[in-house]
Amino acid sequence: MSKCVLVTGGAGYIGSHTTVELTAAGYDVVIADNLSNSDMSGVEGVRTITGKNIPFIELNCLDRAAMEKLFEDYKIDAVIHFAAFKAVGESVAEPLKYYSNNIESFVTLLQVAEKYGVNNIVFSSSATVYGQPDVLPATEQTPRKPATSPYGNTKQMCEDILRDTVAASQSLKGIALRYFNPIGAHPSALIGELPKGVPNNLVPFITQTAAGVRECLSIFGDDYNTPDGSCLRDYIDVVDLAKAHVTAVSRMLDDKNKERYEIFNIGTGRAVSVFELVNTFEKVNNLKLNYKVVGRRPGDVESVWADTTLAETELGWKAERSLDDTLKSAWEWEKRVRGL
Ligand code: UFG
Repeated sequence: MSKCVLVTGGAGYIGSHTTVELTAAGYDVVIADNLSNSDMSGVEGVRTITGKNIPFIELNCLDRAAMEKLFEDYKIDAVIHFAAFKAVGESVAEPLKYYSNNIESFVTLLQVAEKYGVNNIVFSSSATVYGQPDVLPATEQTPRKPATSPYGNTKQMCEDILRDTVAASQSLKGIALRYFNPIGAHPSALIGELPKGVPNNLVPFITQTAAGVRECLSIFGDDYNTPDGSCLRDYIDVVDLAKAHVTAVSRMLDDKNKERYEIFNIGTGRAVSVFELVNTFEKVNNLKLNYKVVGRRPGDVESVWADTTLAETELGWKAERSLDDTLKSAWEWEKRVRGL
């Protein structure tokens, strides 16, 4: 019988792509999402791509009774917990919103999972836990830096909550995946990133500028201590990222994990500057982008990219899609959303 994976936040950007890859790998998936930062189009897209009527439960992970009903109704083998708020600036303005939603919901999930004997949990962490590392690329051993926002703090705290809960349990297993910068969309262009309001992240801002929704991209700083003066990041294709979750789930279900709590960087291992990203987007999509250089964005780190050795050797996972193809997919998705 197929194993069943609960994907919280499965209507969202990374959750929807992960649901597709889990289904392709033969898992049954149940999506739970409160649609606070997504809508049913993600679920519909996933159903179209997979040809399966993937169950969708509209619930808030803070709602213990609703969570318990879900675990009663489905025999869950593993959980991937994506459901969380993720806007850095908003988290500074409304910290309690973030602590309540991101921390309490994870604690509730862990309690309900324990009650129903579900022992395999994957947590969506972030490279944000490294801040500006002293040595690059960042390995999983690179010390975490004090978080510079409540959002970043919730990622660190949830990692620790998972670590401590695993340590106190005889049977619980946990994997934290630290994502670098997820970008791109499914090759079908049926699912992708759908930010509400003005995008905070670079690629959605680029695609919306190309689509004429935004007038001009602002490049935040060209005076950093980097080869071209703009910040360096590790941009990971969302389909590759989704596949990393499948390997993490399989690792636990097949008892291949070395420790009961493990952490993996999920990136490409390649540093790409903002200018390189913009130029590549223009080249592969054969268009010109309206952009200007402005001052640095407060809170930005200068450079961060991943050492992916551990994911390669332990998970047997490696990023595959080229930056060219990823940036083409981002533009195809934007065009479909805008009807271009
Ligand atoms: N950038 C621009 N113009 C924009 C948007 C971004 O030049 O309009 C630049 C940024 O300055 C940065 C790079 O593009 O150098 C990437 O910025 P993103 O906002 O896309 O990504 P970040 O690396 O800043 O954000 C990531 C994650 C967040 C996380 C944050 C913490 O997306 O979830 O790291 O540092 F909180």
